[in-house]
Amino acid sequence: MSRDLLVLPTLAGDRITLRAWRTTDVAIVQEASGDQLITALTTVPQTPGEPEALAFIERQHERLRSREGYVFAIADAEDRAIGHIGLFPAGDRWARASIGYWIGPSQRRRGYAADALTTLTAWAVQLDSLDRVELYVEPWNEGSWRAAERAGYLREGLLRAWERVDGSPRDMYMYAQLTNRIQRPDP
Ligand SMILES: CC(C)(COP(=O)(O)OP(=O)(O)OC[C@H]1O[C@@H](n2cnc3c(N)ncnc32)[C@H](O)[C@@H]1OP(=O)(O)O)[C@@H](O)C(=O)NCCC(=O)NCCS
Repeated sequence: MSRDLLVLPTLAGDRITLRAWRTTDVAIVQEASGDQLITALTTVPQTPGEPEALAFIERQHERLRSREGYVFAIADAEDRAIGHIGLFPAGDRWARASIGYWIGPSQRRRGYAADALTTLTAWAVQLDSLDRVELYVEPWNEGSWRAAERAGYLREGLLRAWERVDGSPRDMYMYAQLTNRIQRPDP
């Protein structure tokens, strides 16, 4: 990949679209600010103020400029943002990448996370430089690992004390999918 800023595509899923964040998307960021897990895992502000939500949206554009990762708003059939998903390189190379995501509390259990993950993964696996796409999911987070499995990811194992969340080390399942450039199917 070149060193230019990342250019975000718009990706159509079954019932969602992945597109750039807009300033008109503040409501879902304000809603997500009330979810303790989302604020622990992401830079979603812990307060529902509009300036803080707008700053979050601006940070997503900055992540493209700084090549930190491809970050999308997940939009429903009415083009309202209902969540967030992003693809991030492991370290500063794009041989491996991981995906993180959240859905606003009022929009859950409608298949949106699975749809968004399937859509982003289908795009990511054809990127030239990538060998594998990874997800890290806490074992208790059944909604997340079920979405991963629905999107075709395989659970490869348990990473003990892999990441600190809210200051405490957490075990994570490692889910992964190999990309098209790896010319062999998952075992
Ligand atoms: C995890 C999360 C993204 C799931 O989003 P969602 O849109 O509700 O998920 P979906 O509707 O696509 O559901 C996917 C599957 O998980 C199941 N599921 C969803 N929430 C669940 C829950 N709380 N408990 C058990 N199963 C659940 C669904 O029934 C569906 O199962 P199926 O494939 O067998 O039909 C959402 O709860 C969230 O944003 N949580 C907070 C942030 C987070 O955990 N992010 C992921 C970090 S790894």
